[in-house]
Amino acid sequence: MNKIKCGILGATGMVGQRYVSLLENHPWFEVTYLAASPRSAGKKYVDAVNEKWQMSTPIPDSVSDLVVGDANIVESAIDKCDFVFSALELEKDLIKKLEFDYAKSDIPVVSNCSAHRWTKDVPMLLPEVNSSHLDVLSEQKKSRGFEKGFVVVKPNCSIQSYICPMFALEKAGYKIDKAIITTLQASSGAGYPGVPSLGLLDNIIPFIGGEEEKSELEPSKILGRVVGGEIVEDNSIKISAHCNRVPVVDGHTACVSLSFKEKPIMEEIIKAWTNFSSVPQELNLPSAPKKPIIYSTEQDRPQPRKDRDSEGGMAVTIGRLRECKVFDYRFVGLSHNTIRGAAGGGILNAELLKAKNYL
Ligand SMILES: NC(=O)c1ccc[n+]([C@@H]2O[C@H](COP(=O)([O-])OP(=O)(O)OC[C@H]3O[C@@H](n4cnc5c(N)ncnc54)[C@H](OP(=O)(O)O)[C@@H]3O)[C@@H](O)[C@H]2O)c1
Repeated sequence: MNKIKCGILGATGMVGQRYVSLLENHPWFEVTYLAASPRSAGKKYVDAVNEKWQMSTPIPDSVSDLVVGDANIVESAIDKCDFVFSALELEKDLIKKLEFDYAKSDIPVVSNCSAHRWTKDVPMLLPEVNSSHLDVLSEQKKSRGFEKGFVVVKPNCSIQSYICPMFALEKAGYKIDKAIITTLQASSGAGYPGVPSLGLLDNIIPFIGGEEEKSELEPSKILGRVVGGEIVEDNSIKISAHCNRVPVVDGHTACVSLSFKEKPIMEEIIKAWTNFSSVPQELNLPSAPKKPIIYSTEQDRPQPRKDRDSEGGMAVTIGRLRECKVFDYRFVGLSHNTIRGAAGGGILNAELLKAKNYL
């Protein structure tokens, strides 16, 4: 099979590096174009990324000598790739315009950036939860005059650790009405170089700019329905979030308390989680975890170091399910922020798009 050529915008950053390493030997996609800021443009990838490389495997030979393009110059990508993953750290309005400019130039964009998450006709995709949101793409292309191009985004990096298990419960018929979520977010979530080590080691920072708003609001779009070419939000779950940066390298943890319309019994919750399977598993997508939710019965799990790499970093690990004295139940969820929450999630989105003939 001829592989589909892909580019990575922001290839030198934390998420971009993760894309580079996860896409080595991907069965469907081949990295043929890398782009970053004008600072990196014109250099070989190996020289541009230099000591910033944070992956545990070496830079793949297939990309180390690729000359990095300037991500701001859309023309540089034309004829070099069939679509791009976007992992840029730039002003939101610039990213918004740039991603639509790529789409206008017939280059579909699978984005990790937050810029378009609230654009009505841009799906905020989590394939296990809302693959049906792809239905808005025909309207997006028509109304914006895109021929081959389009933009899809993935949600915030901490969301999968609680929204996947919450969705699994709703899908099994247990309606949730309130959630209180406290996240403990890894340092790699802040990009490179991120929070200075002297600020974070031996410390917890109880503020991540914009993160609580994203954690509280994004679920309403993710859980929404497509009506007339737009995604209509589902605001039926009230969420209160506390977001903290902690001295963990990779893996975002969420401590969650849930209140239900009608309280299920604990065994029903465990069954809904352990039986949960969805579209990526049915389609057998290459990056889909066989078990999207792993329910751990050990009393002190999940833990970032021990659980973040489950199923190649694509599974969400849940544990510590117990009664809550204020709401109904509490649990702890964990997912790998730069894999499931970023590059791995973006690759799964692209695999879904390919399986549904959008790429
Ligand atoms: N880290 C995570 O866990 C995570 C998770 C989900 C989503 N995200 C989102 O993914 C995006 C990237 O995050 P990150 O953590 O990888 O950030 P990062 O480590 O700071 O990397 C940023 C990338 O953007 C490029 N860039 C910076 N300024 C630019 C400019 N003026 N023009 C073009 N490119 C420019 C950088 O290139 P140079 O190296 O040349 O400067 C680098 O490749 C962000 O939008 C972030 O919100 C991150």
